[in-house]
Amino acid sequence: MRNELSTAFQQLDGVLAANQDLWSCQPFTNNDLPWSHTHRHLTGALLALGDEELLALHGSQQLRQHWFQHLEPDLCAALYAFEPPLAARVRPLELDSFDSLHMPGRKWQQIVSFAGALPQRNLPHVDWCAGKGHLSRVVQRNQRQPVHCLEWDAALVATGSALAARQCRDIHYHQHDVTRPLPLDCADPARVHMGLHACGELHHHLLRHVASTRARAVALSPCCFHKVSTEYYMPLSGAARNSQLRLDRAALHLALKSTVAARRTERELRERERWWRLAFDALQRDVRGCDDYLNVPSCKRELLRQGFGDFCHWAASERQLALPAAIDYDHYLQRGRERQRAITRLELLRQLFSRPLELWLVLDCALFLQEHGYRVAVTQFCDNSVSPRNILIQGERI
Ligand SMILES: C[S@@+](CC[C@H](N)C(=O)[O-])C[C@H]1O[C@@H](n2cnc3c(N)ncnc32)[C@H](O)[C@@H]1O
Repeated sequence: MRNELSTAFQQLDGVLAANQDLWSCQPFTNNDLPWSHTHRHLTGALLALGDEELLALHGSQQLRQHWFQHLEPDLCAALYAFEPPLAARVRPLELDSFDSLHMPGRKWQQIVSFAGALPQRNLPHVDWCAGKGHLSRVVQRNQRQPVHCLEWDAALVATGSALAARQCRDIHYHQHDVTRPLPLDCADPARVHMGLHACGELHHHLLRHVASTRARAVALSPCCFHKVSTEYYMPLSGAARNSQLRLDRAALHLALKSTVAARRTERELRERERWWRLAFDALQRDVRGCDDYLNVPSCKRELLRQGFGDFCHWAASERQLALPAAIDYDHYLQRGRERQRAITRLELLRQLFSRPLELWLVLDCALFLQEHGYRVAVTQFCDNSVSPRNILIQGERI
């Protein structure tokens, strides 16, 4: 897979860089998108979408790809040329209902698929950012090797340890911050390091640790790419360091855009928040006499259950903005509605770039491992409906 991954990276890098204008500007904060002038056929087709079709397109990456295929066939072909294969179940798993205690259904499916893709290795495993150690329990039962759980949350460590103790399992919990040097038991090179949904910088710590200690093997499903302390993404591999792409938080957020559909009440509240923010944006532009977006921090859910007037006063006070005594709220709500209608349509184009951006980040991790002497495979360990963060990077020291 060596050349294949590097070719896929170069190809994705090229198409993402060449089309930055199409994805780097957010319709929510920019009234005048650069591509609306250069790609009028896209603007027209998007704005003409009916509500039902729009909802369907927002809910499915496959439908989006299919829809854009007719309008931008070459772009779609280049963006979606690399598709990691499904991970092979390397052997049947022994499963026990005890191992699924305290675990919601989807998490169980993810864990079974992840553990099922790990080859038998007669080595202790280290589970990074283990939470209560759900993955560790399944892996320990099947690999029949000690598992060390690294987790910094004391409550999760206590619950996980109690569960493991009930069955005298060979699972060892370390209440530990993984950004710090690992406990001795975990630092030995004869270890398999695994991380299921270790967030942002933490999976970079995992990979750097693996490379610097020349650990035998690694299995990682990265997530939450935006959880980084730097303004821009810090690439790991030489290939990504040479790229002209500089990914800021907004770009890293975009890489996570394909999420499993939220519940209806949650979705309605989120839509109201976006509507009100856009309505307030129209108001603040008038009040300040300035056509620029004003960033407003996140708000408590309660505020969204009150009126739009309360929301405006809260947002204005957050940004030290004096509002006039008389405001025609209905007028701004109407303007917010109109912008929301347009934005939810225009945003579909950015979403076309979500998965390719995610794969660019995944390939950065994979190439880093290759550069450090690992044989690497990138696969999908579960269906997208079980978790949109379904990529598994596996490395074996050569
Ligand atoms: C998204 S959860 C994943 C949990 C588990 N791997 C799973 O898939 O169910 C991330 C976990 O990382 C833990 N975590 C966050 N920062 C950490 C750090 N610096 N050191 C250790 N654990 C950390 C959190 O407490 C949380 O349990």
